[in-house]
Amino acid sequence: MQDLLDSALARIHAAATTEDLEAVRVEVLGRKGVLTQLSKDMGKLAPEERASRGKFINTAKQAIETAYEGRRSEFERAALAQRLDAEWVDLTVPAPGVRPGSLHPITQIQWEIEDLFRSMGFSVLDGPEVETEFHNFDALNIPPDHPARDMQDTFWLEGGYLLRTHTSSVQVRGMEKLGPPLRMIAPGRVFRNESVDASHEHTFYQLEGMMIDRNVSVGNLIYFMKTLLTAIFKRDVTVRLRPGFFPFVEPGFELDIRCLICGGAGCPVCKQSGWVELLPCGLVNPHVLRLSGIDPAEWNGFAFGLGLTRLVMMRYAIDDIRWLQSGDLRFLRQF
Ligand code: PHE
Repeated sequence: MQDLLDSALARIHAAATTEDLEAVRVEVLGRKGVLTQLSKDMGKLAPEERASRGKFINTAKQAIETAYEGRRSEFERAALAQRLDAEWVDLTVPAPGVRPGSLHPITQIQWEIEDLFRSMGFSVLDGPEVETEFHNFDALNIPPDHPARDMQDTFWLEGGYLLRTHTSSVQVRGMEKLGPPLRMIAPGRVFRNESVDASHEHTFYQLEGMMIDRNVSVGNLIYFMKTLLTAIFKRDVTVRLRPGFFPFVEPGFELDIRCLICGGAGCPVCKQSGWVELLPCGLVNPHVLRLSGIDPAEWNGFAFGLGLTRLVMMRYAIDDIRWLQSGDLRFLRQF
């Protein structure tokens, strides 16, 4: 009898898994278990034996249940400890490197210039990259046989459409839609059918601008251009105008700045001239105003074109234009 209790207790302590433990419980305490059988058999015993047998069964049952519960909570604690181990997080370990993206240098300079012009009352306009021949050429006083078309090698599309060769097309749309007085800039991507090399890309960025009002003068143009260039280069710049030819401006100019590298003494960047050609500009040709439904007797204005891609190259001394569209992270992560 005592053997039965001892061996049950020993097996409970030795149980290695909850399944082992459960098996012992069923075998001893279950409906068909040894102890259960013993209590059922009590009726067959002589009355004087019954009391001591009953006492033994109760004690044994309690001892086994206690041992069983004890072992079971040991298993539970072990399982919990294992789970906590697995879920443990060391809050002091440094986080793995996160690399947030950054704005492309062209976007950065574009946004800077947009902010500047907005502060001077200009709207920032957007237009389609696939353009009509009218908006890209004709309305800018460049008829089909005009040699200026050859200056801008064009990607022609089906149906007379083309990829815009400059953002001047957006100025035409601005004049048509908003009318005078007008202060607008048009940043955007433009396309030219060029063979690609270190200084030529088929795709690049421009920011063109235009102001139309009453009595706009070359003085106004120079003022805005100087403000623009001072903001971009973060210092006073000296400018000069040379005559330049563009069918949509009259007079047309090439605006040069005194070389920022050598201060005008002459260096490789300015090809020893002391000046760097930066942006074309001029007073809007009256015919261009007329083509967009604006009366040149009442209104006039200036327009300018800024190569954003060129500007970024100058700002960061990037010597190959192809880097800008390369998508190469080694390049982009520097900005
Ligand atoms: N649209 C011209 C170009 O892309 C630049 C320009 C703009 C020239 C405005 C004069 C005035 O070449």
